[in-house]
Amino acid sequence: MIHPDTELRYINSRIGYGVFATRLIPKGTIVWALDDLDQKLDPDYVERLDPLRKREVQKYAFKNQFGQYILCWDKARFVNHSFHPTCVDTMYDLELAARDIYPGEQLTDDYGTLNLDEPFDCLPEEGTDRTRVLPDDLLHYHQRWDRIAEEAFRSFHQVKQPLGFLIRPKHREKIRAIVEQQAPIDSLVHLYCRAERKKEESKE
Ligand SMILES: C[S@@+](CC[C@H](N)C(=O)[O-])C[C@H]1O[C@@H](n2cnc3c(N)ncnc32)[C@H](O)[C@@H]1O
Repeated sequence: MIHPDTELRYINSRIGYGVFATRLIPKGTIVWALDDLDQKLDPDYVERLDPLRKREVQKYAFKNQFGQYILCWDKARFVNHSFHPTCVDTMYDLELAARDIYPGEQLTDDYGTLNLDEPFDCLPEEGTDRTRVLPDDLLHYHQRWDRIAEEAFRSFHQVKQPLGFLIRPKHREKIRAIVEQQAPIDSLVHLYCRAERKKEESKE
């Protein structure tokens, strides 16, 4: 589920819609958390879908480290890509505000964290050498994203966490230790979906 202080806005015919902050969302706030209304779809199921629905799933879902497609039930699926994203992913089924996100600013992800099936041709942006998002970006940029997440976790207890109730019990202790700087963050490199990962690993 996406942070409640957001709304969907139309941007233009090239990008379509995006998710915008309606109030200040301070750095370190959980901006998205996996919840039980999100759908987890197995890759063979998606593969067998009719072309119309398959295309939509591939556009709106991301893949977890086990290769399952996660299709968010709410406006989270409308979050756009940026090479300078306002949100950062973590290994704990949640994303944090990477910096203060002001009212009217867009919540964006680096699609490099999403285990894309195909390269993604995005609009060009200044201040980066990257021109496309590639399926193996996680292998090249995880350290950069880990640093940003680690830094955002420092503010975790100083900000309101309206989505805090969605933190999954299995991650609570680790998050506490990271926030209190008693444990290092688990690297996003582990989010990279390797073909050989077994289905059983995804069972919780
Ligand atoms: C998950 S959807 C995001 C919501 C989408 N904007 C919409 O209105 O349906 C991903 C799609 O948004 C568009 N998009 C997102 N970020 C973009 C970017 N940085 N440059 C160009 N298109 C983008 C592309 O069409 C992409 O396939």
